[in-house]
Amino acid sequence: MDHKTTEYQAFSHQILTWYRENPRDLPWRGTDDPYKIWLSEIILQQTRVAQGLPYYYAFVTAYPTVKDLALASEEEVLRLWQGLGYYSRARNLHACAKSIWFEMSGEFPDTYDKLLKLKGVGSYTASAIASFAYGEVKAVVDGNVFRVLARYFGIETDIASSRAKKEFEALANQLIPKDHPGEFNQAMMDFGARLCTPRNPDCESCPFKTSCFARLHNMVSDLPVKINKVKIKERHFHYYVIKCGNSWVWKKRTSGDIWEGLHDFPQVESSEELPSLTMDIPSALKEEPLLLPKNYRHVLSHQRLNAVFSEMKIKEENFEELENWCENEGFMLVAEDKIESLAKPKLIVNFLNDQGI
Ligand code: ADE
Repeated sequence: MDHKTTEYQAFSHQILTWYRENPRDLPWRGTDDPYKIWLSEIILQQTRVAQGLPYYYAFVTAYPTVKDLALASEEEVLRLWQGLGYYSRARNLHACAKSIWFEMSGEFPDTYDKLLKLKGVGSYTASAIASFAYGEVKAVVDGNVFRVLARYFGIETDIASSRAKKEFEALANQLIPKDHPGEFNQAMMDFGARLCTPRNPDCESCPFKTSCFARLHNMVSDLPVKINKVKIKERHFHYYVIKCGNSWVWKKRTSGDIWEGLHDFPQVESSEELPSLTMDIPSALKEEPLLLPKNYRHVLSHQRLNAVFSEMKIKEENFEELENWCENEGFMLVAEDKIESLAKPKLIVNFLNDQGI
């Protein structure tokens, strides 16, 4: 056995030992149901374990099987996902469930290659499901794995580059033991999430403290290397919160932009900050005074949103005109007690909470 193989085996053995001594009781760990594992992985791509748990429970309670998810409405699925962000993941989740139920006779794909064909399932998720549910020997590479491997082996490849994924996947696939692939993958994720954390890793209690390259070379805070090329776009939304009696004017967002399928208000956008922007509102409705505008900021992964909410109360005698206008413009009139059940972006939920809704 060459030197490298021995080093790799020692690493895998040690990380499995650490994992067995530091177990975490997570609900998707006690199961080999690929559907539940898939749900948990899609949720956990979006958030940390503590925040993901209530979403996981909500989804498996509402949809215990892939059939239940397939038969749900997109509106309902988006509503359950509300607050997690990146809503295309929820739409993909729903689309996948439908395709498994209606096109694959409800049989969950059972190999890495078949899983990879599902919408929204990339090599990470396919490896996770294949190894946890079916014991296939496929290593997962997520942010945790990048970090652990970059530090332990002293790899300086920019993890945002396209060749990094291949390089780290190849290494992880050499490390993964054939007899415990799922456990090894869980161990890598947990080790990265709990001990080898991005900031302030707990090197003192680390089982690798005498062999980790980064630790030995005082490079723990330099690894992994990530050169951030993401440019943040600044956007300015001017929202009109139009109420008439007990009804509010809402808009369902269409494709081609953030928050497809979610609900917000009629809106005008500008590329720079402007004191006010006026919507084209029929004159009879426009007579109504605007209440003082409220400003919000909301940060997404690639965009910074600056939102101004201007409220407008329409006299009830103008309800019919408002109704006609909404119909022409593709807006919806929603009674106040129905607002709760609309799927909404977090920015809008924040605004509503401040209004006591
Ligand atoms: N993060 C992503 N997937 C995970 C899993 N299966 N267990 C714990 N944390 C995770």
